[in-house]
Amino acid sequence: QSLKIGLIPADGIGKEVIPAAKKVLEAIGSDIPKPEFVPLLAGWEVFQRTGSALPEETVEALKECDGALFGAVSSPTRRVTGYSSPIVALRKELDLYANVRPVVSVAANPGDKPAIDLVVVRENTECLYVKQEQIVSTENGREARATRLITERASRRIGKMAFELALGRPRKQVTIIHKSNVLSLTDGLFRETVRAVPRLAEVNGRYDSVKIEEQIVDSAVYRLFREPQIYDVMVAPNLYGDILSDAAAALVGSLGLVPSVNASDKFVMGEPVHGSAPDIEGKGIANPLAAIRSSALMLRFLGYPAPADRIDRAVDQVIREGEVLTPDLGGKSSTQDVLDAVLKKL
Ligand code: NAI
Ligand code: MG
Repeated sequence: QSLKIGLIPADGIGKEVIPAAKKVLEAIGSDIPKPEFVPLLAGWEVFQRTGSALPEETVEALKECDGALFGAVSSPTRRVTGYSSPIVALRKELDLYANVRPVVSVAANPGDKPAIDLVVVRENTECLYVKQEQIVSTENGREARATRLITERASRRIGKMAFELALGRPRKQVTIIHKSNVLSLTDGLFRETVRAVPRLAEVNGRYDSVKIEEQIVDSAVYRLFREPQIYDVMVAPNLYGDILSDAAAALVGSLGLVPSVNASDKFVMGEPVHGSAPDIEGKGIANPLAAIRSSALMLRFLGYPAPADRIDRAVDQVIREGEVLTPDLGGKSSTQDVLDAVLKKL
């Protein structure tokens, strides 16, 4: 038996950090089935060569994989005919309905509780991102309208994901983020549906120990910056979740540290939250830790928490010791040095 992992480095520093994550997975040893890697293409570069940012072979090959790691794509700032973001398309093709982003600070001493330890669970398929926009001419000029879709089905499954994650965490708390004081129908449905998850018959009391909180999105951002320690699992519709998860990432220093996964009940794709970083591309100084942590998070979702913990501990040690760090964290080391340091800790 092997663990089949699709590797999609895509563009820019994705091609520098995904190979590092691969090396870490190879070093795990017998805690996981022997990984078998499937190199796959997506992104701006392959679009320029072939006219497709997400070749059909990539999607088909992923359907045969247990999981995947995605690097980053470079998106053109101008509108390019025929180009659309492969990451958005992949979420859709594979119905990766949850975007899960843990934001954790490294404690000063091993074993101490980190000051910040929260996870943003973002609904990944609907809200304003259904991209149903239209523009109409009126006697007062043009008017642009967008549809914001919130369904019970999507709210329920993201709610379940949030409760399930909370169950595995010490504080067992879910905070529902919404704006139902203003958007009483759409956000109202989201809030009400997530709140009702623990009472679903099929859940059978599984989430009774989870504490439910809620917070209006604007004050949630305010409190996130002032007292991030009050949050455990934050669950939000797509747009609020997108903004909240980037804001939360700012709390722990560098983009080069924060991992994520895109998940369905059947598939999981790890993805560092940073982009392709054209300013440092090819210099060998990209921080590989976000990609390495994404590989650990992927393993967690695949049901291998012990090796995931080992990877996270190795990364924490390297950060805590502070001797081998890339320039984004104030160090002078290279991607390879940091990878070597993590491998040594493993
Ligand atoms: P970015 O995340 O690529 O870079 C922002 C800043 O953070 C840069 O100064 C970069 O050098 C630094 N940085 C990012 N990751 C780093 C790492 N691992 N180690 C050290 N430094 C790191 O965001 P930016 O510059 O806004 O976007 C660049 C390109 O990436 C654009 O084409 C954008 O569309 C794309 N992008 C793709 C994403 C994805 O694939 N999910 C997400 C964000 C941006
Ligand atoms: Mg974002």
